[in-house]
Amino acid sequence: MKHVGRSERMLDPGAPAVSAEPEARPDAASEIFGPRFYIAQRYAELLSSAGVERGLLGPREVGRVWDRHLLNSAVVGELLDPGDRVVDIGSGAGLPGIPLAIARPDLQVVLLEPLLRRSEFLNEVVAELGLAVEVVRGRAEEPWVRERYGGRDAAVSRAVAALNKLTKWTMPLLRPGGRMVAIKGERAPDEVHAHRRVMAASGAVDVRVVTCGANYLRPPATVVLARRRKQTRQWPARSADRRTR
Ligand SMILES: C[S@@+](CC[C@H](N)C(=O)[O-])C[C@H]1O[C@@H](n2cnc3c(N)ncnc32)[C@H](O)[C@@H]1O
Repeated sequence: MKHVGRSERMLDPGAPAVSAEPEARPDAASEIFGPRFYIAQRYAELLSSAGVERGLLGPREVGRVWDRHLLNSAVVGELLDPGDRVVDIGSGAGLPGIPLAIARPDLQVVLLEPLLRRSEFLNEVVAELGLAVEVVRGRAEEPWVRERYGGRDAAVSRAVAALNKLTKWTMPLLRPGGRMVAIKGERAPDEVHAHRRVMAASGAVDVRVVTCGANYLRPPATVVLARRRKQTRQWPARSADRRTR
């Protein structure tokens, strides 16, 4: 793995920055992907070849495709429970959803991506890697997406939108108590502070900034974690209560 010390923005120039340049322990990839390391290797090759040719990954990302993209994504698996039904909102070229699905075959992963070119790439990659992952072309806020793919245990995302918008898109896709897992940059605490009211109004509770992959990456991935508020029991109004007695 090649380590580059310079920080650069994500795949899209307009996207929010995600983190400082991570450097991984040399044996990190084989530990994280275990016996499925060869699948991760093939994904890294596809990202670095077809992904670059089709404009989904900047050519300068090739040298850091493992640390910055595959490992930074896969370590978020630390926050997911066995068998979780997960949606990756704004998957792009498959990040973080594909590395997660490789490292954690117990997860049921849906990759949600509105752009045709990207969703075509995702379908091809999923077929080539033989992953049991569903690719859906759509936007998180679309009613049909909410109806068909709502009720998830977790929604992951990376470099998709500011926290206010992202929380509004994410909460309706979660079951009550389900987890939002948003990979963010080092300024995540400021972003949480700036958007805490909108997040609460969107139904997010237990909002925290945590790090993942500290055993493997320096710096570890910074993640904004929140839960969808559980519905509280609706007690009948007092007058109605009396009428029923
Ligand atoms: C900067 S890219 C990040 C891609 C990938 N998550 C990564 O980290 O490399 C943002 C992605 O979010 C997608 N996106 C934008 N708005 C969206 C929405 N409302 N619902 C789902 N995806 C969306 C875009 O099409 C784009 O692929």
